[in-house]
Amino acid sequence: MSRVLSCIQPTGPVHLGNHLGALINWVAGQQDGDAYHGIVDLHALTAHEGEGSPGLLGSQTLELAAMLFAVGLDPDVATVFVQSHIHEHSELSWIMECTVSYGELSRMTQFKDKSAKREGEFISAGLFTYPALMAADILLYDADEVPVGDDQRQHVEITRDVAIRFNHRFGETFTVPKAVHPKAGARVMDLQDPTSKMSKSASTDAGIIFMLDDDAVIEKKFKRAVTDNDGEVRYDRQAKPGVSNLLDILSACTGTPIGSLESSYSQYGPLKKDAAEAVISVIGPVRARYGDLMADRGELTRLVRIGNERARTVAASTLARVHSAVGLLPRV
Ligand code: TYM
Repeated sequence: MSRVLSCIQPTGPVHLGNHLGALINWVAGQQDGDAYHGIVDLHALTAHEGEGSPGLLGSQTLELAAMLFAVGLDPDVATVFVQSHIHEHSELSWIMECTVSYGELSRMTQFKDKSAKREGEFISAGLFTYPALMAADILLYDADEVPVGDDQRQHVEITRDVAIRFNHRFGETFTVPKAVHPKAGARVMDLQDPTSKMSKSASTDAGIIFMLDDDAVIEKKFKRAVTDNDGEVRYDRQAKPGVSNLLDILSACTGTPIGSLESSYSQYGPLKKDAAEAVISVIGPVRARYGDLMADRGELTRLVRIGNERARTVAASTLARVHSAVGLLPRV
């Protein structure tokens, strides 16, 4: 059975990009593979920068756990865990930092983009070494497949490079993972700015569909989605980013190939309306389940504890294998 691992940061409300790019695949794949899904709160520290309200990250972590179960991860099947509760992530991360090079980290587009946006502000070393912690997340679980959106492609590539380098230096230790992306929805764009990916860090919420938005809000956001003036429904990411994004979302939600959607629409209005309806039918039921899960924090915590225990067992045995491969003195 292949091992699947993927993670998400508790940095704010989950949006449609997260759902179509990653979560849908996690749910679909949980029966076929041995699935591990982490809520990566330590990664979120690279964005929080320590300021703000203490305790916020903790509550966002629990809310995200509820969302992961609400979208359909079954706690009896998939292992949902909290990264900071499994100390092996931080420990392996250091070894990964010593296996990845400064040059490789410097080439990461995410680091270049984020540090450019924060020019003149505090940029933590953690933002730079982020891919080492992400490699640790993946390699600790001997993951074969990592279902992620397109924006994580480079991070999974560097993980592969690091795993291959480590295995070469110290002998076969890690499984070399591969990224898996959905056919449609791998890169959901902002409805107001379809040349930028849908992201929690956008300056306004108008182009972001949040999982907990109600139906009327979703309809309004789609109605106002930016398109273009030529009036032709055609998939062309470069020339027609807004229309292409709507087609991509509709395809991801309905499973209809983009080619047949292109020929079924001649106007933008009906395309927007159907995209909104398709999104509502996919995420609508999630809201009710999320509410039920959040109403019983004790049960939610119990589910996370079970996931943590399962994750810890795997992580501890991989870390022991790594220590022995490196040749550290066995614990005394
Ligand atoms: P994060 O928390 O930003 O996003 C979680 C998942 O959602 C996908 N995603 C998108 N997919 C399509 N369109 C979008 N607009 C969009 N926005 C987000 C992301 O690709 C991701 O799959 N570095 C990771 C978290 C991480 C991780 C890992 C992932 C840490 N360790 C190990 C996989 C394996 C991140 O920041 O994802």
